[in-house]
Amino acid sequence: MVRVAIIGYGHLGKFLIEKLRLEPDFEIVKIWNRTKSEENEEVQTLDTINASNLSNIDLVIEVAHPKIIHDYGQLILENCDLFIGSPTCLADQKLFDNLKSVGTKFNRKILVPSGAFWGANDIQKMAEVGTLKNLTVTMIKHPSSFKLGSPLFEKNEEAKLKKEEATVLYEGSVRGLCPLAPNNVNTMAGGAIAASNLGFDGVTAKLISDPKMTDWHVVEVLAEGPDGFQVLTTRKNPAKPGAVTGQLTYFSFLSSIKGI
Ligand SMILES: NC(=O)c1ccc[n+]([C@@H]2O[C@H](COP(=O)([O-])OP(=O)(O)OC[C@H]3O[C@@H](n4cnc5c(N)ncnc54)[C@H](O)[C@@H]3O)[C@@H](O)[C@H]2O)c1
Repeated sequence: MVRVAIIGYGHLGKFLIEKLRLEPDFEIVKIWNRTKSEENEEVQTLDTINASNLSNIDLVIEVAHPKIIHDYGQLILENCDLFIGSPTCLADQKLFDNLKSVGTKFNRKILVPSGAFWGANDIQKMAEVGTLKNLTVTMIKHPSSFKLGSPLFEKNEEAKLKKEEATVLYEGSVRGLCPLAPNNVNTMAGGAIAASNLGFDGVTAKLISDPKMTDWHVVEVLAEGPDGFQVLTTRKNPAKPGAVTGQLTYFSFLSSIKGI
């Protein structure tokens, strides 16, 4: 039996609580959130996260905000394993290095979901043997599905005025994009972690705002290896305009947790 605490009582948190309660191998013993919930009295506020409350938990699942990992990641790893649902926070190399070293010292697992990233295991294997030469992850969503920081916010506002034409909001390293779109590109951060030989600086991110994406989020993954080796996958993830996360990503997330 894995004793689990969930941090974040939003869309993903509520989904995971409902599904994990059906699993005989998991027991949800704590739910933490920024605010209390009128509908669920089990939800406690973040100020009650401390070593003594963490001591009887095996795994903390963060599905709230990248800031939670900055604020509580070390304390959690000193006491239990950590599943990071907002891995865009790991683009901060100082945080990444610190969590890795605390995890090693206390012999804890640090896990990230593959999210909407297709082929993570294959890419991980190529990275480990050094045959992964380039990885490009392109995400294409409806303009209303983005939550962005400046200057991408302003670019996307202009993209909203277009009826047909897609706008490239960003092309560059995953590291550069994560702080500008922390809620939208967890999938790319997962890719940068799988592609361990390239990392956040070496994996290329392309973010496209497209008014034609009224039914899907599209994630394209182009992996390149030696002698012209290439794999290109296109994942069409059903999602209505305004949805930050595609429906099937919720189930992918659940499988990643069950897979531990
Ligand atoms: N890895 C993936 O594939 C993937 C997929 C979907 C969502 N996510 C990430 O998971 C997290 C939750 O997603 P969601 O769709 O459930 O979001 P949501 O907005 O529905 O819920 C977030 C919850 O966390 C709380 N919260 C928000 N900011 C907080 C903060 N700074 N400190 C403390 N609590 C805070 C909110 O009160 C809310 O209850 C987000 O960071 C999102 O980017 C990752």
